[in-house]
Amino acid sequence: MIIAIDGPAASGKGTIARQIASVYGLHHLDTGLLYRAVAKAVLDAGYQPEDAGHATEIAAKLDPNKFEESALKSQTITDAASRVAAIPQVRQALINYQRAFALRPPGAVIDGRDIGTVIAPGADVKLFVIASPEVRAARRVAELRGRGESADEHEVLVDLLRRDERDSRRTVAPLKAAPDAHLLDTTHLGIDAAFRAAVEIIEAVRAGRKRR
Ligand code: CDP
Repeated sequence: MIIAIDGPAASGKGTIARQIASVYGLHHLDTGLLYRAVAKAVLDAGYQPEDAGHATEIAAKLDPNKFEESALKSQTITDAASRVAAIPQVRQALINYQRAFALRPPGAVIDGRDIGTVIAPGADVKLFVIASPEVRAARRVAELRGRGESADEHEVLVDLLRRDERDSRRTVAPLKAAPDAHLLDTTHLGIDAAFRAAVEIIEAVRAGRKRR
């Protein structure tokens, strides 16, 4: 079983994906970490995130088993991640790993921006998770402060909107719901309620399949 979970920044897709993977006994891949890891390696090497040649070289050599996740969450890397993610060759260099991950038995929950559209268009269930920009910014601020970082609500909101815009406008694999994705709006849902809503959609899709 492959479950694709896409959506804009801080919409809650990562939390839902982790919980769904654990309950259904599936592997979980947060594909944002791949772009973040490329961004960090590019910056560490002293290059600009827009430097397509070096970013692509780094993406091709990336070892996704060696991430230090906590080092990838800073605002600088977050912003650079969406810049390297707009480079078509960088995305191309990361496709095989993601597709192979999706095919590992017994299946996977994969979250990102282009999972239902590009990485796993044949996924059994596709969710597109959204929430209002203000709610997303408040969640990201809480997350940052929880990690001891200072965060200004307005700045975080501006950053989210800028990143959504960049992710949606890029020519290759833009942030977009697949035509067969189920929309899940978590604006008024807490973590538990969002998880239950996701399970309901997944179970409805599976029941519909069995009946056919
Ligand atoms: O957690 P948050 O939603 O803020 O970000 P993320 O999912 O870790 O993704 C960071 C950046 O990576 C995004 O802004 C996208 O530009 C890029 N990304 C992408 O292009 N495609 C994916 N499948 C996942 C992330």
